[in-house]
Amino acid sequence: MPTVRTVPRVRTVRVRTVLGCLGAMVLGARMLTAQTLPAGPGAELVKARCVSCHEADIITQQRLSLTGWTRSVDKMVRWGAGVTPGEREVLQPYLAAHFGPKPAASHAASDAGAATFTRACTTCHDTDIVEQQKLSRAGWLRAVEKMMRWGATVSDAEKDPLVEFLASRFPPR
Ligand code: HEC
Ligand code: HEC
Repeated sequence: MPTVRTVPRVRTVRVRTVLGCLGAMVLGARMLTAQTLPAGPGAELVKARCVSCHEADIITQQRLSLTGWTRSVDKMVRWGAGVTPGEREVLQPYLAAHFGPKPAASHAASDAGAATFTRACTTCHDTDIVEQQKLSRAGWLRAVEKMMRWGATVSDAEKDPLVEFLASRFPPR
């Protein structure tokens, strides 16, 4: 009976939305620190138009192309975000520039690093815990050494390419 199953599902989504908005009102100011958003004209628009219903991190965790961000903003506008066409011209390129698809690994070293990453770094936790970090080379070296102490199996030969891979893929913002 499809109708009977649809109704509670819709209701759940609406409750989550309302809770999300309440939470955002209480926590929004604190969560949205300056370092969350790279500087730029779009940063002000994200703060003004996009964080009333949810925090900025739901946005900054995405990796979308300009087309993807355009679709995402379309969807948010349908859901109630007030963004003018002129603001979209600024907002969408800003989002695509800073939260765009990850560059494909190009060098042999990054291929080796990528392979080590897939083999040694995804056994205990999801990759997103790693991808959310934005670290310098030294920072990634420390992170990798810590994970090696905690049990990640990375050989000495694999360590440098892995650190290079991480530092080029997930550099400081
Ligand atoms: C009227 C409320 C509202 C506003 C304003 C709003 N959003 Fe959302 N957004 C939502 C809801 C609701 C979700 C779903 C949250 C969830 O799944 O917990 C969401 C989720 C998202 C997601 C996660 C992926 C997805 O599609 O579910 C992204 C990315 C996003 N919003 C981007 C934006 C951007 C960019 C803006 C500013 C243009 C914006 N949002 C403004 C309500 C809003
Ligand atoms: C033996 C299990 C294990 C392996 C393998 C592992 N990690 Fe972790 N890692 C952890 C644990 C446990 C945490 C803490 C998770 C938490 O706080 O929820 C963590 C957290 C992290 C964090 C978050 C920041 C921090 O220091 O808490 C990063 C970044 C990270 N790991 C990177 C890596 C990388 C890169 C690799 C591959 C070299 C790797 N991990 C492999 C267990 C592991």
